[in-house]
Amino acid sequence: MANTILVGAQWGDEGKGKIIDVLTEQADVVVRTQGGNNAGHTVHIKGQKYVLHLVPSGILRKQKVCVIGNGAVVDPVSLVEEIEGLRKLGVKIDRNLYLSETAHLVLPYHRELDAQREIVKGKNKIGTTKRGIGPAYGDKAARTGLRVVDLVKPERFKQQLELKIKENNGILKAFGAKPLSFKKVHEEYRAAGDYLKPFVANTVILLHEAVRRGDDILFEGAQGTFLDIDHGTYPFVTSSNTTAGGACTGSGIPPHRIDRVVGVMKAYTTRVGEGPLPTENAEIADMLHAMGREFGATTGRPRRCGWFDSVATRHAAMVNGIDDLAITNIDGLDSLETIKVCIGYRDGDRQYDYVPNDIEVLARCQPVYAEFPGWRTPTDRARKMSDLPAKTRTYLKALAELTGAKLAIASVGPGREQTILI
Ligand code: IMP
Repeated sequence: MANTILVGAQWGDEGKGKIIDVLTEQADVVVRTQGGNNAGHTVHIKGQKYVLHLVPSGILRKQKVCVIGNGAVVDPVSLVEEIEGLRKLGVKIDRNLYLSETAHLVLPYHRELDAQREIVKGKNKIGTTKRGIGPAYGDKAARTGLRVVDLVKPERFKQQLELKIKENNGILKAFGAKPLSFKKVHEEYRAAGDYLKPFVANTVILLHEAVRRGDDILFEGAQGTFLDIDHGTYPFVTSSNTTAGGACTGSGIPPHRIDRVVGVMKAYTTRVGEGPLPTENAEIADMLHAMGREFGATTGRPRRCGWFDSVATRHAAMVNGIDDLAITNIDGLDSLETIKVCIGYRDGDRQYDYVPNDIEVLARCQPVYAEFPGWRTPTDRARKMSDLPAKTRTYLKALAELTGAKLAIASVGPGREQTILI
């Protein structure tokens, strides 16, 4: 398979979990390189639904090595719950999961601060997952964070945590929020540290050994291009680099070891949380929600929905260097008579064929649409391109051409088998 980075080409929730699962079949090692338990990757195998938050989806296949890399942020208690939940479903987690010593920790004060900052922002809130991701990466950048290597050193962890809780209780007090009990937090997180210790490793060394062996590595991206801290619709973004570069910094594998970038995108657009979504459309949202689709895997929030935005995906192809495309949720459009695709933005007299950086301009932009005839036929049983209606094929070909990358995978449902490899 070669070393492959998989990224979301939209605003997250592109169906990456399923595509990662499909690509993992050919991989030896699967690495998560950014984000934390804000992510929710859903994988359906033989009627069983698995929702993964931080553990790489590779864990669902035998003999794959899974790594939570240095670029991720880890809430130890939530990770223990996730591992336990997977074990209860019969997933083997033993010598197949490694946790980077240098990944930063998400602690209860990060979650509290995340919630308080959202309250203070009022109508300008970001709509975060309230998992403490922003404040945890904030501490990392400010060089005041605690890392996995600290968690597993009991004395050091105790001392550092005590100081951090003292400092953050002062901040929480200023917000009018309840202070945290050091004793309670310490007990809970110390226990999680003990549980996680056997998984902790120098993952940079481990990954380079894999490279030397000639193993194929899959870098599983979380969130999507427009939630990237640098390239997204700032400030309505997450706090990590969700684009391809983040896979290198978040793992310690250099760019010249990467062979391929796969971009995952839905056949339409969705977003959770606040911020501009140029093609947002109530009609398509109502249709998808009525089908029981487009509710968040992590928070259960209904996702905002819109038509496919090729201005956005072209931008994503550019900043990620996407070679191959995986288009998902094609079956979601099966009942439509006409399907719109955004091919440009208009702001007054000005036309854009790229995503403007000024968030106020982007929020004003009106989409310019091309229309495609709907196929009005169920596609969920298609297993090869020739099983798809001609109109579906025309639509997918247009999405790939407008995005500027090669169509490699088409997905017509959540199941592993509902995948067309092109
Ligand atoms: P945070 O990552 O919790 O700070 O949230 C920041 C923004 O990213 C919010 O709009 C969230 O809804 C969005 N977000 C975070 N993680 C995901 C994800 O896995 N899928 C989709 N949106 C996400």
